[in-house]
Amino acid sequence: MKVLVATDKPFAKVAVDGIRKIVEGSGNELCLLEKYTTPEELYAAVVDVDAMIVRSDKVTKEVIDAAKQLKIVVRAGAGYDNLDLAACTQRGIVAMNTPGQNSNAVAELALGMMVYMARNTFQPGTGSELKGKKLGIHAYGNVGRLVAGIAKGFGMEVFAFDPFVPADTISKDGVKVVNTVEELYSSCHYVSLHIPANAQTKGSIGQALLSQMPKGGCLVNTARKEVINEAELLLILEERPDLKYATDIAADNQAVLNEKFGTRVFATSKKMGAETAEANINAGLASANQIVKFFQTGDKTFQVNK
Ligand code: 3PG
Repeated sequence: MKVLVATDKPFAKVAVDGIRKIVEGSGNELCLLEKYTTPEELYAAVVDVDAMIVRSDKVTKEVIDAAKQLKIVVRAGAGYDNLDLAACTQRGIVAMNTPGQNSNAVAELALGMMVYMARNTFQPGTGSELKGKKLGIHAYGNVGRLVAGIAKGFGMEVFAFDPFVPADTISKDGVKVVNTVEELYSSCHYVSLHIPANAQTKGSIGQALLSQMPKGGCLVNTARKEVINEAELLLILEERPDLKYATDIAADNQAVLNEKFGTRVFATSKKMGAETAEANINAGLASANQIVKFFQTGDKTFQVNK
């Protein structure tokens, strides 16, 4: 079988070497398409492949249509909003993710961004400490849980809202369960976003929630830009000069935000939550192993288009 690693944002070499070992070691062929700049390059690369590993790369209907032999696509990571699941399902292609494999890298970045914002983006002047501050975790999945653990090490008081996670799973981690999303935003100095981007969540974080944050509140987004209502974010930052926004996924209107709000806003130059050697190795190798197992035994654990 021919396995393509198609990554606009390449894995670390050590991860690619590991993927190669797994794929070739099981008698399959590996090919690479890295740092491509146009969808056409991806269409051409997928023509004869049986399996694909991607990161945030967009696997659209056009990609699926071009990939005539494709049987499985694995998103090396958590969020699979970049895969056209309907197109995969229609063709009988199995789509998977690798939940948890890159979560620690994202969690560490979330805390790093909190420190950065608390310390005036490392500019001269008096900052504040995380210790004793209230942190609200919006969605208690793999990343949210890790953020909670690290934040407790900082001495933060941690709260979480997640209607899909049983309350005792949250509380046994020493995290306070919050029953409504409004309560989370109104009680926490920092809110860390870990919701997926889907039809229910897109544009859901806007003025109604952000206006409830306590004085000096800071929203940290290592999830997806699509969950933010960007027009309302701009309005609330104008209305409330005490609020801050840090994101790993630059807003479409980031240039305007930067110009208007200076060090009250921060965006990484390219999404880097999962950009660690460890996360690349964990997610990359898991993807390769999932593909090999699928071809060898038909195993569909982690399938997301069921
Ligand atoms: C994920 O959903 O796993 C993260 O957002 C990481 O995305 P990336 O592989 O594009 O860095």
